[in-house]
Amino acid sequence: MSTQTLSKQQQSTNIPFQDFLMPGNFRFGVDTFYTLLDEVKKLKVQKITVISDKGLERVGVVQRVLDLIEPLSLKCTTFTEISGEPTFNLLKTSVEYVKKENSELVIGIGGGSALDVAKATAALADKDDLAPYLSGQSTIESRTVKCILLPTTSGTGSEVTMNAIFGDEEQELKRGIVSRSFLPDLAIVDPALTLSCPPKVTAASGVDAFTHAIESYIAVRATPLTKIYAERAMKLFSSNITKSVHNGKDINGRIGMSWVSTLAGVSLANAGVGAVHALAYPLGGKYHIEHGVSNAMLMPFVFEVTGKTCTEEMVDVASYLHLGDFNNHPHKALDAVVQYLYELLETLDLPTSLSELGIKREDLPHLAQQASKIDRLLSNTPYRLTEQKILQIYEKAYQGPKTRNMG
Ligand SMILES: NC(=O)c1ccc[n+]([C@@H]2O[C@H](COP(=O)([O-])OP(=O)(O)OC[C@H]3O[C@@H](n4cnc5c(N)ncnc54)[C@H](O)[C@@H]3O)[C@@H](O)[C@H]2O)c1
Repeated sequence: MSTQTLSKQQQSTNIPFQDFLMPGNFRFGVDTFYTLLDEVKKLKVQKITVISDKGLERVGVVQRVLDLIEPLSLKCTTFTEISGEPTFNLLKTSVEYVKKENSELVIGIGGGSALDVAKATAALADKDDLAPYLSGQSTIESRTVKCILLPTTSGTGSEVTMNAIFGDEEQELKRGIVSRSFLPDLAIVDPALTLSCPPKVTAASGVDAFTHAIESYIAVRATPLTKIYAERAMKLFSSNITKSVHNGKDINGRIGMSWVSTLAGVSLANAGVGAVHALAYPLGGKYHIEHGVSNAMLMPFVFEVTGKTCTEEMVDVASYLHLGDFNNHPHKALDAVVQYLYELLETLDLPTSLSELGIKREDLPHLAQQASKIDRLLSNTPYRLTEQKILQIYEKAYQGPKTRNMG
């Protein structure tokens, strides 16, 4: 709907209307992986490409997919060139591969890296010129190649979002592209697929999911509907993250975290995220720090500042995290939440400062300049951060939690 077609009343609100989207078909449950066979059969396709990453190929996950669908005797190829978080150049290679193979179905299996490549590849495989879509000039409006996504981490919620994120090597930045065509035909969330996830990935991707929940909960675009998802995600996070990281074979912890990832993903997809992500993107682009790690590390430092404008929400979050009832002294809720976020980094053995991540202090002004340009995310945060304020946050994060009460 264009602004010309909006009524006067709609135009008088900042956000005239909001859609709520998630995949039309969403399946959750332990061992639902095995239902993939019937789902592929139903699609009546002849050529399939399985997209995953090198790590998952090594641990045999890709072969499990091939073995499962082998009885269908279809032409099935694999694209597993992903190692580390994907770039736009890698996406182009994967689109060329699927075009060359004439695949009618893409099955994406993996963490957010593999799923982002899989869904963007499926949506771009019928387009001649990719450039306008990759630059964000044109929106992808349709998809002819079918797409099924199966996450193996509990974090990004990529299987339920309209976003896909890639490194822009020329600009040393990470950028998202957004399209409704990225929602898969079917998302299958099988918590058993996450049992093999190593502790560091479990911790970083789990806190990433929490970042989606808390940032979308306070977002300018949050609605009562998205807040239901974010609230439930935060509650489940606090009771499941530690056991999933420290006892990865605990299936109940894995089920809990798979719900966290899904619920937070739906909330993120419809309300958006904010300043934590804006400050994390430049670290991914220049230093290739994993998305979950940079979000987790920056979250307490950013919330210490931005949380000041959302006292009511901080009271809610403190209660969802079982930190106490702050209704009678709401201004103390933010301190409790920030303290929890700092302690979380320690408990989960995640880095606690930018210096620990190998970031150079002299790069901070450049990083702040890059972050300050990510208006899509900064404008979705109730506290509007200036470039100068972003630099101050980076400076504190560089030094680590011990300095957090100084100035
Ligand atoms: N589309 C979205 O909405 C969205 C949201 C947030 C983040 N992202 C993107 O997702 C990417 C990060 O995804 P991620 O955190 O899931 O990590 P990842 O996909 O990069 O995977 C991290 C590592 O874990 C390994 N791994 C994954 N699952 C495993 C398993 N079950 N067993 C053993 N090893 C396993 C992978 O092989 C890889 O080496 C980033 O590129 C980020 O920008 C996308």
